[in-house]
Amino acid sequence: MKKVIILLAVAMMSVGMLAACSSSENTSKAADKKVLVMATSADYPPFEYVDTNQGGKIVGFDIDLANAIATKLGYKLKVKDMDFSGLIESLKSGQADLVLAGMTPTPKRKQNVDFSDIYYTAKYMIISKKGSGINTVQDLKGKTVGVQLGSIQETKAKDLNKTIPMKIEDRNRIPDLIEELKAGRFDAAIIEDSVAKGFLEKNKQLTGFTISDKADEAGSAIAFPKNSSLTAKFNDELKKMKEDGELQKLIVKWFGGMK
Ligand code: ARG
Repeated sequence: MKKVIILLAVAMMSVGMLAACSSSENTSKAADKKVLVMATSADYPPFEYVDTNQGGKIVGFDIDLANAIATKLGYKLKVKDMDFSGLIESLKSGQADLVLAGMTPTPKRKQNVDFSDIYYTAKYMIISKKGSGINTVQDLKGKTVGVQLGSIQETKAKDLNKTIPMKIEDRNRIPDLIEELKAGRFDAAIIEDSVAKGFLEKNKQLTGFTISDKADEAGSAIAFPKNSSLTAKFNDELKKMKEDGELQKLIVKWFGGMK
């Protein structure tokens, strides 16, 4: 009699376990889509910034683009905010699967990470207070010039510095450069034109001019760890989005059609 009860109990338990199993399998299929971690530096409107109107959510062109491609490939996306200068390392150390941060694919970075094709082109812009007398690159001589730490704008400033001696100051976040300019601690800052534009609109005392000759000198691409299988997959989807106009739609949404 005892044996029968035990057998019965075991049988009932396994039915229960089976049921539990299959139901958890169902939920895991729906909810547990593979997650990709995207690292970014959310100080760069309209590419990526913290939207205080949406409870501090990180939004922007890069977030929309990454979400669109990840969804097409069957992934979910988790966005991780950090300083721009830490992004390449986050890929190398496996903390992130991809980086979208308006990042330019430079030869030096290509030694450490792989890049997709360029998805948006931009130029260098020098911004300063109106009436500062800074109207050409030559005018930076002897001035204090702010740049984002680890950016190609920092490299540009160092290059210019060889022929036009200036004092270069680094900051981690773009809004800090703007604050230093407004406070008069910097005479100028070098920022990408598409990002500077938004700050100039909000800060009427500031003005700027572009200095690049090549269109995609400061362009943006998606970065991946070296030899990631994602690079080709994302690039394929990016190509399709370029061809079918979906990318252009996002550009219009975030940059107002500026190309
Ligand atoms: N395009 C420049 C670079 O690659 C600046 C990018 C800065 N991005 C940012 N999210 N703050 O160096």
